[in-house]
Amino acid sequence: MPLTYDAIVGALSSEALPALYVDLDAFDRNVARVVSVVGDAGPTVRIATKSVRVPALIRRAMEKGGSLFRGLMCFCVEEAELLSREGFDDLFVAYPPFQAAEATRAAELVARGVDLKIAVDALEGLERLSRAGQQKGVKVPVVLCIDMSLRLVGDLVHLGVRRSPVATPEDALALSRLAAAMPGVELAGLMGYEAQVAGLADDRPGDPERWAKRAVRRASIHVVRERRAQVVETLRAAGHDLGLVNGGGTGSLDSTSRDPSVTEVSCGSAFFKPHAFDHFTNAHMSELEPSCFFALEVTRVPGPGLATCLGGGYVASGPVGTFAAPLPHLPEGLSLLPTEMAGEVQTPLRVPKSAKLRHGSPVVFRHAKGGEVCERFREVLLIAGGKIVGRAPTYRGLGACFF
Ligand SMILES: Cc1ncc(COP(=O)(O)O)c(C=O)c1O
Repeated sequence: MPLTYDAIVGALSSEALPALYVDLDAFDRNVARVVSVVGDAGPTVRIATKSVRVPALIRRAMEKGGSLFRGLMCFCVEEAELLSREGFDDLFVAYPPFQAAEATRAAELVARGVDLKIAVDALEGLERLSRAGQQKGVKVPVVLCIDMSLRLVGDLVHLGVRRSPVATPEDALALSRLAAAMPGVELAGLMGYEAQVAGLADDRPGDPERWAKRAVRRASIHVVRERRAQVVETLRAAGHDLGLVNGGGTGSLDSTSRDPSVTEVSCGSAFFKPHAFDHFTNAHMSELEPSCFFALEVTRVPGPGLATCLGGGYVASGPVGTFAAPLPHLPEGLSLLPTEMAGEVQTPLRVPKSAKLRHGSPVVFRHAKGGEVCERFREVLLIAGGKIVGRAPTYRGLGACFF
């Protein structure tokens, strides 16, 4: 059962606000849902750690997920290093680094025996990593990142993310041949992330484009499956040993885990279910439940039907718009004021008569994205059975700040 407003008021009564908290019961149910949607279809689950950013919760998901959960998808080498210090292994940096210092750091970790892989999509990145690997006397395992976007009318309509220039089996073969010829890297696998399936909300009420978005998602599932299969076949036929074929994200767990080419699916947002993942047509998305919240304090009452919280401008990255703002969650019926939204020093709210907010009352919000809100808090309160049962440092609380 989701926690009621009264339960939250009780649990947070002696905490300083703003506070970030995770409902562990909901979090665990989400882990169980990921296990059931991926099931024994074949691939394992790799946690996208940027969507959590709390080592204790990453550990909890790994433990609750059992043998199905294997490995972490990191967003930079420094994060992988932090997670290795925290005791995690099987780390895959999915966003190609380029700074020489990052390449050296990666090679050092490999030389220390850390099971680390790095995504690459260009000759320039491969050369950097190979040089660093050679200097440290190791071969840095690399994973080719393949473009999974949907392109229509040439490249006039591009649906998906702008990431890798490696879009065809021929491109992939050419880059893998270059990798094979370099002394400081070795090919460990490939990744193809279908953002336009995994992250596209296609059921937003009132969205005039939702029918088009559904069509994009449906069409993409087939295109992606075919492209991934062709690239995998081509590389295997050329003698490349692909230990890892990664795909997907929270919104595509159902389709990606049934793609016979993939050996693992990634997911991170499934555990917190931030509000960007509220309106999808697939069944598993409506079963996931919000588990991560932040509470602000009402510090001003500017007039009847209004309450103003201190702070709260925790806006998500991505396209700028109201969807990136935090969503008032409890008590029910609150709304942001379009003229101010969630601000640096204050977040005013329109309050229905049913919500009895006064000075000092907490107001609960959900962030639009998974782990980003953790950059605003040093610790997360862990709530189970309606009570605080622990607290865990976020990356920020551990003194880490990546980019
Ligand atoms: C490469 C890659 N894989 C998977 C994901 C999915 O993460 P999540 O499950 O948090 O949406 C992302 C998200 O940005 C990503 O960039």
